[in-house]
Amino acid sequence: MGSEAHSPEKSRIVFGIESSCDETAVALVRTDRTVLAEQIASQEAEHAPYGGVVPEIAARAHAERLAPMIEGVFADAGLTLADIDAIAATAGPGLIGGVMVGLVSGKALAMAADKPLIAVNHLEGHALSPRLADAELGFPYLLLLVSGGHCQILAVEGIGHYRRLATTIDDALGEAFDKTAKILGLGYPGGPAVEKLALDGDPGAVPLPRPLKGSKEPHFSFAGLKSAVLRAYDTGQHAAADIAASFQRAAIECLVDRLEHALRGEGSFPALVVAGGVAANKAVRGALEQLAASHDMRFVAPPLALCTDNAAMIAWAGCERLIAEGTDFRGDPLDLKARPRWPLDPEAEMVRGAGVKA
Ligand code: KG4
Ligand code: ZN
Repeated sequence: MGSEAHSPEKSRIVFGIESSCDETAVALVRTDRTVLAEQIASQEAEHAPYGGVVPEIAARAHAERLAPMIEGVFADAGLTLADIDAIAATAGPGLIGGVMVGLVSGKALAMAADKPLIAVNHLEGHALSPRLADAELGFPYLLLLVSGGHCQILAVEGIGHYRRLATTIDDALGEAFDKTAKILGLGYPGGPAVEKLALDGDPGAVPLPRPLKGSKEPHFSFAGLKSAVLRAYDTGQHAAADIAASFQRAAIECLVDRLEHALRGEGSFPALVVAGGVAANKAVRGALEQLAASHDMRFVAPPLALCTDNAAMIAWAGCERLIAEGTDFRGDPLDLKARPRWPLDPEAEMVRGAGVKA
């Protein structure tokens, strides 16, 4: 169970709810890292006609689906509310309507069952998800968190101890993948489609910028890369596959360069870890694995299903809190508010543009 010393303890079960973006998800996870049951419903079909997530549609879809999914996942595991030890729900950051649907459902269950409520920061769910899959991963680790709303480098030093070393000053990388897909007419969600098309392209074919590469600043920027993709497409001179491959290579070079910058400032870590939706990308994983090897760091990437939004990671973050807080933990207050913006590192300085789109 990680490298930290925990006294052997009885396994406990946490029920988790995720509803911060366009996946409605529920899961039952035990503190010994067993996922007892999980269900996930994507809203891809609802949002696809708009080329992106429409917040009002997302909130309604969560509200319609959540109750039957909760019933379903308990039935799948053969458990009742009486069998669980806590309820974890995403309380932010994310689209406020969806977050409220999940959080209020979590509060109602906590009240009805007289169990503690654990309000989970969605980013903390991503940040700790690698520890659900890998019992050997102890603190500290250097985390690249790359999703549709975020692109951050964090020093993960313990439960509740996250030091942000870098963030994006404009777009998140997942967002840049999605916009590139839109420009190339690949539809939504774009990340997997760009990755697939890039396999047929030449990553050296289209000259694209590497924003902030080599900069003394620690941060990321992807807005200029996205605009350059649009300009390259508009020339009509490049095959879509070449644009996709060249975009992906440029983005990966930025990731590697910014991680090198963080490592120069911080010194090495035992492990380099990647999490968030973009961590599903095999070219990204490959490049990070090489980087880790060149710094004598272990490389840890969770299985693909744990990278994109899911509730097992939220239930697991709840498990981590249960273990860390000890037996007299009463949970978070039931009047706790949903937080559409909720930085993981409250000490981190504000960066222009960052976190605008949670
Ligand atoms: O973590 P996530 O599921 O949701 C957020 O919290 O944002 O991340 C979704 C993002 C989307 O932008 C999606 O296009 C991107 O992750 N993504 C990928 C891949 N799979 C998902 N990007 C690149 N390559 C992929 N294979
Ligand atoms: Zn996410």
